Amino acid sequence: MSALFTAETAPAPEAGWPDRSAVDQVIARLREQPPLVALEDCLDLRRRLAEVAAGRAHLIQGGDCAELFAEVSAHTVRRKAAQLGELADLVESGTGRETAAVGRIAGQFAKPRSQPFEPGPYGESLPVYRGDAVNDTRPTAEARTPDPQRLLTAHRLSAEVHRHLDAERTAGGRPVFTSHEALLLDYELPLTRTDGGQLHLGSAHLLWIGERTRDPAGRHVAALAGTANPVAVKLGPTTTAADLTALAAALDPERIPGRLSFILRFGADLVEPVLPRLVRAATEAGLQPVWICDPMHGNTERSPAGRKIRRTDAVLAEIRACVRVLRRLGQHPGGLHLELTPDDVTECVGPRQDPAVQPRYWTACDPRLNPEQARLAVTAFTEEAG
Ligand code: PEP
Ligand code: CO
Repeated sequence: MSALFTAETAPAPEAGWPDRSAVDQVIARLREQPPLVALEDCLDLRRRLAEVAAGRAHLIQGGDCAELFAEVSAHTVRRKAAQLGELADLVESGTGRETAAVGRIAGQFAKPRSQPFEPGPYGESLPVYRGDAVNDTRPTAEARTPDPQRLLTAHRLSAEVHRHLDAERTAGGRPVFTSHEALLLDYELPLTRTDGGQLHLGSAHLLWIGERTRDPAGRHVAALAGTANPVAVKLGPTTTAADLTALAAALDPERIPGRLSFILRFGADLVEPVLPRLVRAATEAGLQPVWICDPMHGNTERSPAGRKIRRTDAVLAEIRACVRVLRRLGQHPGGLHLELTPDDVTECVGPRQDPAVQPRYWTACDPRLNPEQARLAVTAFTEEAG
């Protein structure tokens, strides 16, 4: 399939829209909207990632698992940008290498889910929350019904966050590039534009494909193929060497430096068994991707109360294992992909904390590192990678 296939030919089971004709009207509106990012800024990030791939720089990518419409404001953007800037500074001082800051921000409004339903507060079956671009977190059947009008709100608020980030940069902050999971093709495809003959994803600087939708022959890979932005793919523990080379062939046939990143999310205990053969497959194919460690998504457990939790010990162990294996195999550890927040939450569990006691568990989806935990993660990275 070519990158130019249209939204009409790409159904979106990941959203579960009740009414396709309403979605088509929204797609037509999105096509008329201006793109949220300039091609030139996407190419700027791609050049910086080329430096990472070459072993001369790093990146730190982080933010909420799921952004919320209600939290968009100049104030929250300022705090999030400041946190990313601080962590990038920490990587720079620990490694002596320039570090790009990339947020899970300004569009991280869609969540892939393993199950379509979950038990509601009265034991009834409710559609799961799929991100603010699709439905609402409140546990009622009405709030959870997918509403395609939300795609337009996602676009409007993503534009607002981009404006706040630009203002922070103009005020002297470091640049924060934007990224989110390219899950909803009903959103991504109508925002894909041609600029000076180059196809360009207009929703964010960098888009990634999630672990559940990384089929090399699938619609998500086809949607990103042929675009000029830097792109990334999440790789979980079931990834085969053939998957990796097929993904590279589809997404980066011309081997453009900085175009392709692999975000590794195996779980602390699976790095050693899984990563070496993937690295060897990449080396044998002559690839030079950016290797990014996501120490969050392979380390999710359930607390006694049934909440998702992550142990900081496992997060730190995956970071150290990932960097060590990459270095042993002659690869440059490019950076970290973290779920984090500037708020002092208790969502990830420290070694001396009781997982049954989490007074500030505020995430709409997965548990995030609080500022202190995020600094520990970055320090573990720089200690191994520096
Ligand atoms: C995520 O990044 O929030 C996510 C769902 O990741 P993955 O695709 O790696 O499971
Ligand atoms: Co997540």
